[in-house]
Amino acid sequence: MEKITITIDGKTVEAIKDQPVLMAAKENGIDIPALCHHPELENSGGSCRVCLVEAIQGGRSRIVTSCNYPVRKGLEIRTDTEQVRNIRKGVIELLLCRVPDSEVIQNLAAKYGIKEPRFFTDEGESDRNKCIACSLCTQVCEDVVGVSAISMQNRGRDKAPGTPYHKDSSVCIGCGACAYACPTNAISMKDEKGVRKIWGKKFKMVACSVCGKPYIPEAQVNWIVRTTGKERSFFDKCPDHR
Ligand code: SF4
Ligand code: FES
Repeated sequence: MEKITITIDGKTVEAIKDQPVLMAAKENGIDIPALCHHPELENSGGSCRVCLVEAIQGGRSRIVTSCNYPVRKGLEIRTDTEQVRNIRKGVIELLLCRVPDSEVIQNLAAKYGIKEPRFFTDEGESDRNKCIACSLCTQVCEDVVGVSAISMQNRGRDKAPGTPYHKDSSVCIGCGACAYACPTNAISMKDEKGVRKIWGKKFKMVACSVCGKPYIPEAQVNWIVRTTGKERSFFDKCPDHR
């Protein structure tokens, strides 16, 4: 890991060569809005475009997505110029048109002074979902969990994750990693009376032997036991009582 110094908003900061500018900024307490980047997923990011910044290198200035732009020697980053704010504002307006019901996007829009999007929004679609088609959920399912229960389906405005043929997935373990990763809370997951409901399927939960709280789907325990060789008894207690 080669450490180098770069400039962000006029401040000289230390960063790791090739790490995403977004991460370097975060590690140095500089906040850049970002929705579709996950630090544990190498190929995540580049889709929502709210993390745009100005990058100046070798006298050349470009607007780039900071989540996948690598830190290099001599790089100067500007995260909050008028130009950057205006472009980012336009991106957020478009997202607001796409998912007007998403509280995450509504809050981001409010932060940028957007009350009503200037762009056309279809009427009568107030109950449409909150998905911005970033693919984080499918990547987490495939690359982190290793299950691939969902995939991105359709194109354009209809692009969204789903199970094959929108039927109950035969491989989903109900772990909820997709819902936790989703930046706009677009995936519905409900835990009720010892049962988790996600992707239209019900999963029986295992209860903690100490506090009695159902905390993990049985199918997820089976998956972990099968793929890692962990003792089943490990899951008798929830993380708080181990
Ligand atoms: S459900 Fe969430 S994580 Fe998945 S594509 Fe849509 S916005 Fe991204
Ligand atoms: S966080 Fe960079 S494009 Fe979405």
